[in-house]
Amino acid sequence: MEAAALENAAEKLLAFIRKKPGEYFELARLMSRLSLQRVDLDEAISLLASWDYKLRLRKRKGVCFISAPDSLTDIEIQHHVRTKKIGRIVHAYNSLKSTNDLAAKMAESGSPEGTLVVAETQTRGRGRLGRVWYSPPGTGIYLSIILRPAFSPESAPGLSVMTALALAETINSYCPGETHLKWPNDVLIGRRKTAGILTELSADRGKINHVIVGVGINVNQGVGHFPEEIRAHATSVRRATKRKVRRVELLVAFLKQFEKEYAAYKKERLNKARPRLKKFSSLLGKEVTVRSGRTRTNGLATDIDANGRLILETKTGRVTISAGEVTIVKD
Ligand code: BTN
Repeated sequence: MEAAALENAAEKLLAFIRKKPGEYFELARLMSRLSLQRVDLDEAISLLASWDYKLRLRKRKGVCFISAPDSLTDIEIQHHVRTKKIGRIVHAYNSLKSTNDLAAKMAESGSPEGTLVVAETQTRGRGRLGRVWYSPPGTGIYLSIILRPAFSPESAPGLSVMTALALAETINSYCPGETHLKWPNDVLIGRRKTAGILTELSADRGKINHVIVGVGINVNQGVGHFPEEIRAHATSVRRATKRKVRRVELLVAFLKQFEKEYAAYKKERLNKARPRLKKFSSLLGKEVTVRSGRTRTNGLATDIDANGRLILETKTGRVTISAGEVTIVKD
């Protein structure tokens, strides 16, 4: 059997037997059900095992499904995803330079809204302000979503805040009460960063072509896992929960929350989300400095508006900031 046909057979076999984990399926029955020769069925079983699916094989009883690997493959994501549009089309890779770069290319060649690009590892994961996003294999989630909103480019920065809220809600369900949102788009557990967002906009003459929302989440990294330079400031969901988390479970929970927040954002920006945003926000009520390009603004962070902008009370009056890097001056 050709490689593509064999993969197809393995996927069909998997979809069939995983419906009843722990139950044996006779090989003869599978052969007729999936229209496979015995040799192809054997190869399909071996292929699934090579993808780290745990199966049990008994001469008389047949084959049974035990468990799936925690890999972010299109098979696993599509099996678990429960959204209408976001993440229904999946492009999953073992290794990419950056999921944002590939998603942007795909968007330029017409990929539809909701298309998801995921990688097990990134060789040039990009963070905000030209930083590197540490993207080791097997422990984190690195994803990009293509959006094509009809609103004007001025409303695009709020998408980062909206995404941070969806992420904070998702991560908070793993470690309730410990999750915070550092405006505009960092998600913290305690005081350490566990997820970041890089939103990139393509627009022409006042119209959005597409937005790429890139998300990196530290999920299963252990204490010694982070490079020296970020160790003091980074954490993972696993460190907070003291247990390994299934990445695919966290990913699909995020996609579901993201779809909900995005629908609301398109309708009424952050109007309804504001109370939750404020609940998660680690800056409100604090003296902060915001650096935005070359300008620095000092003031008391008092609010986040419906477009996701931070409101500061400064010595010279109220200032509204749509993007920047915040440092807390006084807690
Ligand atoms: C930040 O906090 O600086 C933003 C980090 C964003 C990282 C993600 S990982 C997936 C996507 N691809 C990238 O190259 N970057 C984003």
